[in-house]
Amino acid sequence: MNENDSLKKIISHCKAFGFIFQSSEIYDGLSAVYDYGPLGVELKNNLKTYWWKSMINLERNIVGLDSAIFMDSKTWEASGHVDAFNDPLIDNKDSKKRYRADVLVENYLSKIDSKIQKEISKGEKRFGENFDKEEYLKTNPRVIKYSDQYNKVSTKLANLLSSSDLNGLKKLIDELDIKDPVSGTSNWTDVKQFNLMFSTEVGSNVDNTKKLYLRPETAQGIFVNFLNVVNSTRSKVPFGIAQIGKAFRNEIIARQFIFRMREFEQMEMQFFVRPGTELEWYEKWKEIRLKWHQSLGLGNDLYRFYDHKNLAHYANAACDIEFKFPMGFKELEGIHSRTDFDLKKHQEKSNKKMVYFDQKSGSSFIPYVVETSIGLDRLFLSVLSSCYVEEKLDDGSNRVFLNLPFEISPVKCAVLPLNDKDGLSEKSLDIFDMLKYKFNCQLDSKDSIGRRYRRQDAIGTPLCITVDYDSLEDNSVTVRNRDNMSQERVKVDKLVSFIDDKTSLINLLKKSS
Ligand code: GAP
Repeated sequence: MNENDSLKKIISHCKAFGFIFQSSEIYDGLSAVYDYGPLGVELKNNLKTYWWKSMINLERNIVGLDSAIFMDSKTWEASGHVDAFNDPLIDNKDSKKRYRADVLVENYLSKIDSKIQKEISKGEKRFGENFDKEEYLKTNPRVIKYSDQYNKVSTKLANLLSSSDLNGLKKLIDELDIKDPVSGTSNWTDVKQFNLMFSTEVGSNVDNTKKLYLRPETAQGIFVNFLNVVNSTRSKVPFGIAQIGKAFRNEIIARQFIFRMREFEQMEMQFFVRPGTELEWYEKWKEIRLKWHQSLGLGNDLYRFYDHKNLAHYANAACDIEFKFPMGFKELEGIHSRTDFDLKKHQEKSNKKMVYFDQKSGSSFIPYVVETSIGLDRLFLSVLSSCYVEEKLDDGSNRVFLNLPFEISPVKCAVLPLNDKDGLSEKSLDIFDMLKYKFNCQLDSKDSIGRRYRRQDAIGTPLCITVDYDSLEDNSVTVRNRDNMSQERVKVDKLVSFIDDKTSLINLLKKSS
């Protein structure tokens, strides 16, 4: 299956089973905006809870926040977003389509990366267990050639972006002979800057209106509340503030489903540290966050770090955790050492001191910040795209199932009476009523049992509980495991703890810490 096909399958699965719908679909849809359906919202909430508990419950020195989407527009002047939160855009004169110039080059880089990955797969096949990836990357002539090419182009791109060299960007696109995927030509306009922030106005009359921006990141809500949190919680550096919330960006090139949206959700944590210790904390947070992702069990080889070579002026280290999405390795989470840039800028703009007083040493300083920032929707896509499985069974039939980690599955269990006669429905309802307080559980008696299993498989329900005639006699049920379809008898009075053992979020939290 090629990248496009596999993304298309995921999109149609999401719609068919109520995970994600296009926003305003009845009016032909609003581009790059999506609604989460009945199962999507459950899965998304489970991912949020997993992140929130990892930050707030497991780390003793992180507190939560829920700041407003609207903030005084001076916030965005101070942070640099008004002047510099721009995308470089380019149009193809033949197709009249608009693209992000940097994304055109990134797509070019992804193609080189795919060639490297193909060479690695060949090596794995050829050498089997003796395959030494590190050595292969250093010695295989084709891999070396592609890697050199990759590094040259990505360094050039980073330099051009950090110096906002729009002419240079256009020149690079020409040099690489990048063609518009629609028209197939390289008949490009010049590159222009475009600010990504949405704006609106508040106020009740014309003379009294004030321009406001919809926040493009949640982080600034944390920075401007830094002193409020210190004073109200007596938090001591090093400590963190975490928040989950919506962010808005007028992404011009919005494709690839929920990967790049105009309205999305971020889960960000700013960790405030003593100046000089930030790089140590940066390394620590890289490790913690990678482990957190890996604990989901989607496959460790699906993650990699991408260290930024050319840093933004306010950062002294930055990397992305990339995930192997259907369209290749792409940014899932950013980890940035942002120095004291933001607090300093807010101090200048607001004339309010943003300093922390350290009682132990008797000194005051503006803390440095290490940030971890993940897009919840991208996390959702990473989980869904890697858990979508099409399987051919021994009897020749096919099944589609979502191999989701049990702990974050939207529905944990389904109670399925063999039929709805002879008291089986009543028994099933009793069991459902017992389970519903603890688990998101479904009760389903429509269709054949085989079809009901398939439907639960398709939405990723880990455990199906079948109530049969024996259940009326021995007060036991058959529990079927989604992944290997094995079945076992479980006493009804042991059912809550049986399901809890297998689906509790505590399992994941323990793995990640
Ligand atoms: N406060 C830092 C910050 O916002 P960013 O790299 O621009 O950094 C952080 O964004 C994360 O937010 C990204 O790694 C990505 O997961 C997510 N993200 C950014 N733009 C997005 C978009 N248009 N749609 C969905 N997720 C997005």
